[in-house]
Parts: sequence; structure tokens; C-alpha cells
Amino acid sequence: MEKRKTRNLIDIRDLSTKEIDELIEVANDIIDHKEKYSHKCDGKILATLFFEPSTRTRLSFESAMLRLGGKVLGFSEASSSSTAKGETLSDTVCVVSGYADIIAMRHPKEGAPVVATKRSLVPIINAGDGGHNHPTQTLTDLLTIKREKGRLDNLTIGLCGDLKFGRTIHSLIAAMSRYKNIKFVLISPNELKLPDYIIKEVLDKNKIPYIETDNMQKYMSDLDILYMTRVQKERFFNEEDYLRLKDYYILDEEKLVNAKEDLCILHPLPRVNEISTDIDDDKRAKYFIQAYNGVYIRMALILKLLEVK
Ligand code: CP
Repeated sequence: MEKRKTRNLIDIRDLSTKEIDELIEVANDIIDHKEKYSHKCDGKILATLFFEPSTRTRLSFESAMLRLGGKVLGFSEASSSSTAKGETLSDTVCVVSGYADIIAMRHPKEGAPVVATKRSLVPIINAGDGGHNHPTQTLTDLLTIKREKGRLDNLTIGLCGDLKFGRTIHSLIAAMSRYKNIKFVLISPNELKLPDYIIKEVLDKNKIPYIETDNMQKYMSDLDILYMTRVQKERFFNEEDYLRLKDYYILDEEKLVNAKEDLCILHPLPRVNEISTDIDDDKRAKYFIQAYNGVYIRMALILKLLEVK
């Protein structure tokens, strides 16, 4: 089998700002003209290789390919694949890339999608690697921010919860740091602070202003976006630490008293306790719209990586 020339999406920085803006434009066009895209991927196959649980990412990828007229195959847990018999990721990807035109994969190990690109004949999309990156969640977040706020610059963004292990946070910071006049308020308990390497290599390097605090309400009135995250139970080594930190932040109406009227509340989901269900009917709660948008930005991404016009 000959290795075809392919483009992958492993890190959000694999896409230029111009390319991200174009993907958002295409996703908006798909939302407005769904029928125009319904046969764009006729005859194409997407493989979803999920070695870790997922609802939104896997199903929105599958929905995206089906809505483009293509087909899907794959597995949703390592135990139902030959990984359970000891097959390496590299061998699995090498084989599956002969069965599909594009692969979306999720893996608990940071860097696994990079390993996959070495043996794949087709584009690899990182659908989440450990506590590292989640670039297609970020594309979903950017589409949602653009649709809800009308811009991706001049924003004060509060990131709240597990900033240490939250891969959606890491990718979102990398993406938003490229837009003008962005400020971050990093809200976390001391144990779950943003890793130093992101502070140094992304925030300090790009001279992005940020404040670190453990107080959710202190800067609430300044925020244009409040991005809540769940404490990532699966990344903890110690159950006791997880139990101590899991309910550190619970967003409810009382905590929003000083928030802007046009605050946009996002969450990549799944939610555990960190947003009270009372907030769901607040007009500022956009997390279910965010999940809905995920299908359309993934449709735009599939078209781009498969070079479908
Ligand atoms: N946001 C997100 O990645 O959700 P899933 O884990 O359900 O895919």
C-alpha cells in the first residue's frame, strides 16, 4: 500500500487562523443550507477509533459523515477491538486506514494520534488524547463563540474547573491566543491550575494577559465567556483527591448575579455537578447549542481534510 499525501489535525495549531475562519464560514453555510452538502461525501468512509468513552465527539463525527452522504465504521471501546488481544495502535491504524478514507481517533495516551499518523494512509483527526489536546472541541467552541458573540477578538474569557487535565481548555487557549485583545481569567483550585508549559509557551510567549484565581465570582462581572469544565476523574491517580475537588465549583443563578447580561456560558460536556440544571433555561447558557454546533464544524473539517470542494 502506498502512503498518500494527507493532512492531519492533531493540534489546533495545525490550522492557521485563516483556515479556522474558513472552517467557521463553511460550518455556518452548512447550518443554513444543509441540503447543499448532503452528497458531498458519497462513497467516502469515516472510521471512528475510540479507545476512551465519548458521546458527543464520536456521535457528532458519525452524524457529520452521514449528513455528508458518507458511511461510518469503527469501535467505541478498546475492549471490542484487537487492542484487547495486544495489537499495537500503530498496527490497528495501519490496517484501518486501508478500510476508510479518514480516521477520527480518541486515546487515553497523550501523543497517541501522532503515533497514528506515522502508519496511516489517510488523514488522522485527534478526537482527544489524554489530558493533552482536543482540537475539534475547540473548533466547536470557536464556532459557538462566533455565532453567539459575533466575534473572536476583544473577549475576556473565564476558564473554570480542571485546568490541569482539561484538554479542551488547553486547545482553546492555544486557539484564542491567536486573536486580538484576548484576556483569560483562569479559575481553579491550586491543585488543578493550568500547567506551566502552557503558561510559558502560549500565554507568556504571546503576551496574553491572564489572572489566576480560585474565586469563581471575583471577576464574574468582567467576563464575556465563562467556560466551565468537569473535574477529570479518569486522569486522577487518587480517588480521595478527586472526591475532595469534584464539587469545588458549582455554577448557579446566585453566582451569576453580577454577570453580564450577554455572558456566554459554555461547557464541552459531559457535565457532572459543575453547572446546576437551574441554569439550563438561562438565556446565557449555550452549552447545548455548543454540542449541536459540533456536527457542523466537523462536517466542514471532513470536507477540508478530504479536499472535497
Ligand atoms: N466534549 C466531549 O468531548 O464530549 P464526549 O467526551 O462525550 O465526546
